[in-house]
Amino acid sequence: MPPSTISADRVARVNQLARAITEEVGKAFIGAPAITEALLVALLARGHVLIEGYPGVAKTTLVKAFSSTLGCHFRRIQFTPDLLPSDITGTYILDMRTNTFVLREGPVFTHVLLGDEINRAPAKTQSALLEAMQEHQVTIEGETRSLSEPFIVLATQNPIEQEGTYPLPEAQVDRFLIKLRMGYPSPADEKRMLSTYDKPPPPVRAVVGPSDVLEMQALAQEVFVAEELIDYVLGLVQFTRSHAKIYLGASPRAALALVHAAKALALLKGRDFVLPDDVRSLAPLVLGHRILLTPEAELEGGAGSAIVAEAVEKVGYKMPRQAR
Ligand SMILES: Nc1ncnc2c1ncn2[C@@H]1O[C@H](COP(=O)(O)OP(=O)(O)OP(=O)(O)O)[C@@H](O)[C@H]1O
Ligand SMILES: [Mg+2]
Repeated sequence: MPPSTISADRVARVNQLARAITEEVGKAFIGAPAITEALLVALLARGHVLIEGYPGVAKTTLVKAFSSTLGCHFRRIQFTPDLLPSDITGTYILDMRTNTFVLREGPVFTHVLLGDEINRAPAKTQSALLEAMQEHQVTIEGETRSLSEPFIVLATQNPIEQEGTYPLPEAQVDRFLIKLRMGYPSPADEKRMLSTYDKPPPPVRAVVGPSDVLEMQALAQEVFVAEELIDYVLGLVQFTRSHAKIYLGASPRAALALVHAAKALALLKGRDFVLPDDVRSLAPLVLGHRILLTPEAELEGGAGSAIVAEAVEKVGYKMPRQAR
């Protein structure tokens, strides 16, 4: 048995809260529970999510419902070509009564931040948000301010390269723990959505609060990862690095991200130890957007996620000796 550091009732409580969140989100968003699960993984692993999907597939609906269940402070930024870094971080304004400069905090001072259509703002503005994501702090006119905790960014972008968009550079896409592709709903889900559209959806309740989120994040860090699983993660990233169709394979940061995400998923599923299936199911979401194909593979219509799927198929997991 793996060494356990978390008491069974605390693990069970996280599992119960995760179910409650998923159920609440389902009141407003009709779709696969795996989508909500990916958001929960990022939340518990202190990561951020880039949601890519065509207009009208309920990206905003999902993010709003998710943040409502968390009982956390929520802000939204609509990215536009004229958005300035200070529109994200904040700015000093003159208070006429006291004749002093006071900080007007930008929308980044929140728990859950929806960055809608992030690729519509130029690189300088995007990077103001990306600095906040990485360091949980912002620098405003030379003064550094910490953000609130928890802090999670859920950014959306449209996959079609349109005029007037600024695709996120690779190094910035790497800041997102998970890239989630939202496709069209299944015919059954779409039918359910269409048959309920004329009634107002039931309100989405908060089932946790910021302190619960912080506690779940702390517990996720304590989840046990066996050495064999570390080797398995290394096998997967090394496969991407030596693949003929790959220009740039998964980085050590990507490997670390996969371990963090797998720990979060294990806890959400009610375990205090990671299983190979946690790593397998998350590898495409965590690694897919962090590898670059060769121009030839790109022309042939290849995708990073397909290479990761190939890695999952071909790289074996070596069982620990006593379990053989
Ligand atoms: N799977 C779904 N579950 C619930 N509502 C849905 C679903 N798909 C679409 N809708 C409904 O369609 C409308 C559009 O959803 P929403 O605004 O969230 O899409 P979006 O992906 O954010 O679009 P855009 O890219 O244009 O911002 C909403 O009224 C939403 O309720
Ligand atoms: Mg939207």
